[in-house]
Amino acid sequence: MNSFTKNILITGGAGFIGSHLVRLLVNKYPNYKIINLDKLTYAGNLDNLKDIEAKVNYKFVKADICNQNELEKIFNEFYIDNVIHLAAESHVDRSISNPLEFVQTNVLGTVNLLNVAKNKWNLDTDNVFYHVSTDEVYGSLDDDGLFLETTPYDPRSPYSASKASSDHFVRAYHETYGLKIKISNCSNNYGSHQFPEKLIPLVINNILNKKPLPIYGKGENIRDWLHVVDHAEAIDLIFHEGKNGETFNIGGHNERKNIEIVKLLIQLVDIKLNRPEGDSLSLITYVKDRAGHDKRYAIDSKKLNQQLGWTPKYTVEKGIEETVDWYLKNMKWVNNIVSGDYLNYYENQYVDR
Ligand code: NAD
Ligand code: TYD
Repeated sequence: MNSFTKNILITGGAGFIGSHLVRLLVNKYPNYKIINLDKLTYAGNLDNLKDIEAKVNYKFVKADICNQNELEKIFNEFYIDNVIHLAAESHVDRSISNPLEFVQTNVLGTVNLLNVAKNKWNLDTDNVFYHVSTDEVYGSLDDDGLFLETTPYDPRSPYSASKASSDHFVRAYHETYGLKIKISNCSNNYGSHQFPEKLIPLVINNILNKKPLPIYGKGENIRDWLHVVDHAEAIDLIFHEGKNGETFNIGGHNERKNIEIVKLLIQLVDIKLNRPEGDSLSLITYVKDRAGHDKRYAIDSKKLNQQLGWTPKYTVEKGIEETVDWYLKNMKWVNNIVSGDYLNYYENQYVDR
């Protein structure tokens, strides 16, 4: 045993959301040991955690959630008594080109992790398996309505189908074996350290480099933008205070059309680079639409607000300006990433369009 009051395994902690969550918990709870398990795929980056890597209540372990032996060793070595599971393949476009990889990591990897937790833990204790999921499991909205926790699942992309499947397995382990679980389904995150294949960091990077800004279809699809720090704080709250077996939706209350987000980014980056107003508008390039492109996502987080008092602190305008500032100051971080395999992948995508 060790002197920490909890030994929390965070999977995918070197990724975008995971690194924000690891930082929050390591700094806020010196009495918890945070064990960050990550395979370091193209999306995992230990540079994201340089500021906390030397803390005594933090440990990084490179491992694959699909490997049962590795997981069992880690559970034994670190007395793991709680899991917050974020490791996943997370990009819809990649799921369209390679769905099996998403089944492998998001479905099989999650079931493997559930199995190890179920077998290692005494299920009478308060140990919790917290699963981080997406609103994309609910499908696509038309102009009206919001996703509630009771909205029937209707995933439409290989990514959302894999996440929906993993959510079902987490609930099945709760109902069948009595594993204590919590699930949250959140909307599109943005903020610092996001891999520049997702809309907001991709567009910032391309404006900087005067490259085309690819807009799928007409740019009228709507996403509900959630700042990653608001998301990490919601996870912290649900982990500590959410009821066993419950699901919570986490949304930003910030619905915007993609083209509106791109124009806001152009305005901000042009000002900050002292370019003439509207200079980068000519970079907007309408490209072939994403296959099965979900029209609109929007979350109703009433349950989280009413039961646990959570509300997002960021508006899109404030959050995006801070995000732009971070990317402008951290171009080295971006350049280290885009010089690898990712660039080949991304440029191949253009060939189809
Ligand atoms: P990300 O792609 O930035 O990070 C994923 C991390 O998982 C990476 O560090 C990667 O190395 C790691 N990983 C992948 N496969 C692994 C494996 N087999 N074993 C161990 N580690 C592995 O993703 P993100 O945007 O930070 O998303 C984190 C979680 O939140 C995911 O489960 C995703 O489905 C969910 N989510 C994300 C968003 C969003 O907008 N980004 C929205 C809703 C839900
Ligand atoms: P993305 O960041 O990939 O998140 P998700 O697909 O999980 O919502 O995409 C956000 C929106 O932006 C989505 O409607 C697709 C669109 N998009 C573009 O128009 N161009 C791009 O190059 C990318 C990556 C996304």
